[in-house]
Amino acid sequence: TQYNYILTSRPEPAVTLITLNRPKALNALCSPLFAELNQALREADDDSSVSAIVLTGSDRAFAAGADIKEMKDLEFSEVYKTRFLEDWAEMTRIRKPIIAAVSGYALGGGCELALMCDIILASPTAKFGQPEINLGTIPGGGGSQRLAHIVGKSRTMEMVLTGRMISAQEASDWGIVSRVVKEGDGEVVKEAIAVGKEIASKSQISVQAGKEVVNAAYELTLAEGLRFERRIFHGLFATKDQKEGMSAFAQKRKPNFVNE
Ligand code: HXC
Repeated sequence: TQYNYILTSRPEPAVTLITLNRPKALNALCSPLFAELNQALREADDDSSVSAIVLTGSDRAFAAGADIKEMKDLEFSEVYKTRFLEDWAEMTRIRKPIIAAVSGYALGGGCELALMCDIILASPTAKFGQPEINLGTIPGGGGSQRLAHIVGKSRTMEMVLTGRMISAQEASDWGIVSRVVKEGDGEVVKEAIAVGKEIASKSQISVQAGKEVVNAAYELTLAEGLRFERRIFHGLFATKDQKEGMSAFAQKRKPNFVNE
């Protein structure tokens, strides 16, 4: 598929790389960009040869937010009636793991986009922030809720109410990102692709189940979440891959997963 605002490639046979490509606007997330992103994610999700997706931006910006110029003159009645930006949440229905490789600015909707991914790796240049307060508004793509789950009330309040940008190191200390990779152009993307390749070597049916149960932790009570995890765990005993994985261990050999 030909896109205007994103690039797609296959750096590894089982890993799709999606690069936000509006460099002059620091990857501001205009509506057509998001429509393309959703389409590329769905295509990768539906392609059985793809096991993981890496999402990245440029060295200067992962994404500097929703497109302010596109939004500035909108009226309540329009945004309400058209469910403005509600399609952003479509990516949370993707079943395959999405790894964000963040360099430079991840602000506003750009920070929220990263937070909708499953794993975030940061380059030392990454800066995260919810600066909407400086524009007379608040996060609208889940930032207030997802950050509160991850970093707690005080840090979320500070980010949302002051708009302060936090460094890659702070984001790592706070648990927003899983780690900061070593310095260098493209290092964070390389590392994210390596994580995707590692995931691709597993049983994809258990990867999908693993993503599903971890995400349930953000929706369910502890008792319901534990029961859900146990049920899915039980269910995996019906797969060929569980038999293969455990037999291979007992026979001291490498498993050969068939994703069934
Ligand atoms: C539209 C943007 C943009 C944005 C940058 N640009 N961010 N355009 N929407 N979010 C454009 C600039 O207008 C400029 O275009 C070009 O990108 C380069 O940006 P500069 O500002 O010249 O670069 P610099 O001085 O290096 O500053 C970088 C920056 C700053 C600190 C990241 O651009 C900035 O503050 N951007 C806005 C960040 C922000 O407020 N994000 C939250 C948006 S609200 P020209 O044409 O002048 O060269 C949001 C709500 C989410 O995200 C709701 C989700 C549902």
